[in-house]
Formats: sequence, structure tokens, C-alpha cells
Amino acid sequence: MRLRNKVVIVTGAGSGIGRATANLFAKEGAKVLVSDIESSSGKETVEEISKSGGTAVHVVADVSKADEVKTMVKKCIKHFRKLDVLFNNAGIEGPGGLLWKLKEDDWNRVMDVNLKSVFLGCKYAIPYMKKTKGSIINTSSELGLVGSTSRPAYSASKGGIIALTRSLALQCAPYGIRVNCICPGATETPLLVRFLSGKQKETSLRKVMQTIPLRRLGKPIDVAYAALYLASEESSYVTGSILVVDGGSTAQ
Ligand SMILES: NC(=O)c1ccc[n+]([C@@H]2O[C@H](COP(=O)([O-])OP(=O)(O)OC[C@H]3O[C@@H](n4cnc5c(N)ncnc54)[C@H](O)[C@@H]3O)[C@@H](O)[C@H]2O)c1
Repeated sequence: MRLRNKVVIVTGAGSGIGRATANLFAKEGAKVLVSDIESSSGKETVEEISKSGGTAVHVVADVSKADEVKTMVKKCIKHFRKLDVLFNNAGIEGPGGLLWKLKEDDWNRVMDVNLKSVFLGCKYAIPYMKKTKGSIINTSSELGLVGSTSRPAYSASKGGIIALTRSLALQCAPYGIRVNCICPGATETPLLVRFLSGKQKETSLRKVMQTIPLRRLGKPIDVAYAALYLASEESSYVTGSILVVDGGSTAQ
């Protein structure tokens, strides 16, 4: 087992990439704090883990709210006594459309949930992770590397995560904490379906697939395996890196 006796927090663990990662981490021996803004979906993830013989607890938290993130980390320490891995994964796509037509509140929400959340997670977790010399993993996106015709605010928030990951890696290195990020491409989750909403879903999914060199969409488990590598000791010399999991999309 690659994460035996490790304690991990996964945010956005009630769905998609977060749920797949929480399940995989638990199978690899980690004790998982499953965090999500949605209570029912978070509980479902915990049930899945428990049924497979793993250990998990659920904490409802909105990652854009400082007090809720602080409480989430405190609950982890209270329950599991330490924190080894923080997976800042929760994110939203926000509304699509031209940037100059976007409402200020919608811009702020996308930035708060996607980017400020990484700041908050790190702010409250790092003091504990200095003891464990842990690993922080942030979910960015291929749209943090290239522009988005439909969602510039989303793209900007994900680009911000890449820049923040690099700076944090430098600040955390003296403490033995590693900080990396993952850039998934189009991955089969509810978020992708919402991303393409308004367009004919089947047609647009097929169109997206045709643009991907590996000619398929990513699966949540593809990203989960990347997170597992970054969480485990196998990546002990890897920090400040941007791991792209996009079927070759941004290589074009
Ligand atoms: N699916 C893709 O194609 C894709 C591609 C690139 C990056 N990503 C990123 O991967 C991450 C996971 O997305 P997904 O595709 O699994 O989406 P998803 O919608 O399936 O899951 C996201 C989860 O985050 C939770 N969440 C939303 N807002 C929250 C908040 N304020 N506080 C706490 N939890 C909140 C949701 O309840 C949901 O359970 C996101 O950061 C997303 O931007 C996804």
C-alpha cells in the first residue's frame, strides 16, 4: 500500500475527480477526510470507502470560507491526530460567455472557490504539515495553461493555481513540504457536462474527443492515479511541478 498510515484531506470529494481520488487513497491505506460543500454526496463517498474496508470521515465545508476551512483542518487533526496530504481539488466552472458580460459576483465566486480556496487550505494546513513533511496537491486544469473561449474567469483561476503552486513549493521546501499541481484535460464528471451545457451534449462530447490526441475523454481515475503519485513517497523529489493529465491536448 502506497499511503499506509497517511492522513489525507480531499476537498470536492463528493463527486468526480475528488471522489475517485478519495476512494483510491483509501484503498492505498490512507485515512481520508472527505470534504465537500454537499453533505449527501460527501456521505456517499464515505459509505463507498467504508464498504471497501477503508477509513473515512465526512466534513461539510465551503472551501471559499476561511472559518469553514479552518474548522475542516481542525476536525482532521482532532479525529486523525495529523495531516500528511492536502488535496485542494474542489472547483466550479462558473457561467460561460464573454468576459465583459460576466457579472462581478460570478467572477468573484469562481476566484473564491477555485483559487482563494487553495490559499485558505494551505494557510490552515501548513502549520500541521510541517510536522509530517507532507504533500500538497492542487487541481488546476489544462485551461490554466491555455485560454478558454467560453470561460476566461475559470481559466484565470486555474492559471493562478499554477503560479501559486510554484511559489508555495519554494516557500515550503525548507520545511520538507512538497507542493504540486495537476492539470486535467476534459474528464468525464458532472462538471464537464455542465461545462458543455447549452450545446448538444452528445455532439459536443464527440467533438471534444476528436480534438484529443488519445481520442478519448479522461476518467476521474486517470487524475486520481496522478494524485496518488504526488501524494506518495515515490514523488519525494518532485515539487513545484505541473502534472498534465489531458490525453495530449495541450501538447498540440
Ligand atoms: N472534469 C473536467 O473536465 C476537469 C478538467 C480540468 C480540471 N477540473 C477540475 O477538477 C476539480 C474537480 O472537478 P470535477 O470535474 O470532479 O467536478 P465535480 O463537479 O464532479 O466535483 C466537484 C465537487 O466540488 C464540490 N464543490 C463545489 N463547490 C465547492 C465549495 N465551494 N466548497 C467545497 N466543495 C465544493 C462539489 O459539490 C462537487 O462535489 C475542479 O477543481 C475542476 O475545476 C475538472
